[in-house]
Amino acid sequence: MKTPYFLIHQELLQENIERFTQGMCANWNNSRFGYSVKTNSLPWLLSYVRLKGGLAEVVSDEEYDLALLCGFLPNEIIFNGPIKGKDKFYFALEHGSIVNIDSENEIRWIEEYEKPLSDLGIRINVPSEVFNSEDIEYTDEGFRFGFSVENGAFEKALKRISKKYDIRKIGLHLHCNSITRSKEVYRAIAKYTVGIIDKYNLEPRYIDVGGGFFGGVPGKTTINEYFSIISDEFKKCARTRQSLLIAEPGSAIVGSVIDLHTSVLDVKDTNCSHIVTTDGGRVYIDPQWFRTRYMYSVRSKSEKKYSGKQIVCGYTCMDHDRIMEIENELHLQMGDEIIYHRVGAYTVTFGGLFIKFLPEVYVSNNGETELIRSSMTVDEYYKIQSAGGR
Ligand SMILES: Cc1ncc(COP(=O)(O)O)c(C=O)c1O
Repeated sequence: MKTPYFLIHQELLQENIERFTQGMCANWNNSRFGYSVKTNSLPWLLSYVRLKGGLAEVVSDEEYDLALLCGFLPNEIIFNGPIKGKDKFYFALEHGSIVNIDSENEIRWIEEYEKPLSDLGIRINVPSEVFNSEDIEYTDEGFRFGFSVENGAFEKALKRISKKYDIRKIGLHLHCNSITRSKEVYRAIAKYTVGIIDKYNLEPRYIDVGGGFFGGVPGKTTINEYFSIISDEFKKCARTRQSLLIAEPGSAIVGSVIDLHTSVLDVKDTNCSHIVTTDGGRVYIDPQWFRTRYMYSVRSKSEKKYSGKQIVCGYTCMDHDRIMEIENELHLQMGDEIIYHRVGAYTVTFGGLFIKFLPEVYVSNNGETELIRSSMTVDEYYKIQSAGGR
């Protein structure tokens, strides 16, 4: 196998999915998870999640169609986000998808919709004050998604929707990104949800607590712990009794099960530094460009240490594509392999077609390895980028 390539460990993936499903069901019998497609939208992965009983959580028309192509039925798709197209929005409603509205636009589309509405959900803009400030970003400006209860937008939305739909049953969606993935985030979300259900006398058909969980990382909050906290809060409110509990894990499913294999292409000294150029890249493993440390291992013929700092860089020819700095570690040589572990979330499908094309992806299972994504050829790139196929 030629580097760079991603390697998915199928046994670990299966464990993460099973642990998630069991952790949810043990605490709330009526529950489903919808895998967050944006976290890693490889077709192989989507088909695998479906095989293992997951739904697909999508946030664009493209992701919706991809989920269909990978075998999900419309009623196995959760359609979220503020950028849905109108046609796909209506298609999703008509075909039984779980649709959570997240924009003023969509309320207008509901008003214009001429068919009976059998189901609908709405995303709530959870106020940052309900969380511990160290757990979240945007403590001052608040989250950007959903309808705010506090400024009246949620109530207005309900009133407008109520002309078409029995809003007592409306599904509630409350995904909030956190920095810490702390269980306290979910306690806060669950408590806040119960407050809203009480305030508006709702009996939601489902409550979707979103994603943002740890999964497959030793020492971190377990799926069972998250859902025991969530269900303890929900059980305090009789009107949640019939509700389906939905979660939308992405990182908890794939984050810990994928490695990136890279090779050292060159080693040299500049006047100031020791530079190690590799065929890896931050675009492959650090979409937000803020990480400075990784879990990694090295395969090398030598055991010699380098005294001082080695700057490990990526392939992109951008000076700031510096993956990590290592001090007094193994002296990296041309041909050595550096393997970055647990880099499966927001990476494999995130890097674009910049300078080199997306790396190949393999799956390992019971000692067998299978190629599941090949790299694009220059001819294919040329055709797509010059609209030559149209
Ligand atoms: C609406 C929604 N659901 C689920 C997720 C998945 O989050 P994670 O990969 O942290 O589990 C995200 C990620 O931002 C999201 O925006």
